[in-house]
Amino acid sequence: MGLYDRVILPRLIDLAMRQKRLLQYRSELIPQARGTILEIGVGSGRNLALYGAAAERITGIDPSLPLLAMAKRRVAATLPIALVAGRASALPFPEASVDTVVMTWTLCSIAEPLPALAEIRRVMKPGAALLFIEHGLSPDAGVARWQRRLTPLWSRLAGGCHLDRQADALLRDAGFEIPELQNFYAEGPRLFTYFTEGRAVAS
Ligand SMILES: C[S@@+](CC[C@H](N)C(=O)[O-])C[C@H]1O[C@@H](n2cnc3c(N)ncnc32)[C@H](O)[C@@H]1O
Repeated sequence: MGLYDRVILPRLIDLAMRQKRLLQYRSELIPQARGTILEIGVGSGRNLALYGAAAERITGIDPSLPLLAMAKRRVAATLPIALVAGRASALPFPEASVDTVVMTWTLCSIAEPLPALAEIRRVMKPGAALLFIEHGLSPDAGVARWQRRLTPLWSRLAGGCHLDRQADALLRDAGFEIPELQNFYAEGPRLFTYFTEGRAVAS
């Protein structure tokens, strides 16, 4: 792994993910998590302080060792959490063992989203929730055209991030229902801020 991936990229990801305007979305979503929780792409741990009393046990998984090291520094002594190196496509959990899956701005970076979502479904208990917020493909043709053009270059610079994914469509393709869903522009450049937020359940 080169200097960019080892040192620079994790810092850039943390810098992007620590933005105050993201905190309001995290603060609404994360306290809903309950029971045995799996956070996919825990990154530098920006959600960790937001889990509430209903969180019994949290596992945060991420393939990036530098980001996991940052997340470790954010773990309060009282938080029942394990941070694990790994990928969404091979989860170290038995079938039907997780009450809540959390995924914030992560599906954009997963190389093979459909196999990963199938693996996530495998570990979810019947009725378990997948709480998510993702950025993705704009409904505006002009913005979408640029998102598609820039994704090959952007993806190389930004750890595999795709600007042109549709998280809700991917979730449905993977067999999830989405009883709570909001699609909206957040503040900021439109290439990056068409957000999809909600709660999905395995159908
Ligand atoms: C934009 S960051 C978001 C980090 C964190 N979820 C947050 O909200 O701050 C995307 C994260 O997805 C992780 N990631 C990339 N591929 C992954 C995979 N196959 N499985 C799980 N996480 C992955 C990256 O390492 C990175 O931490």
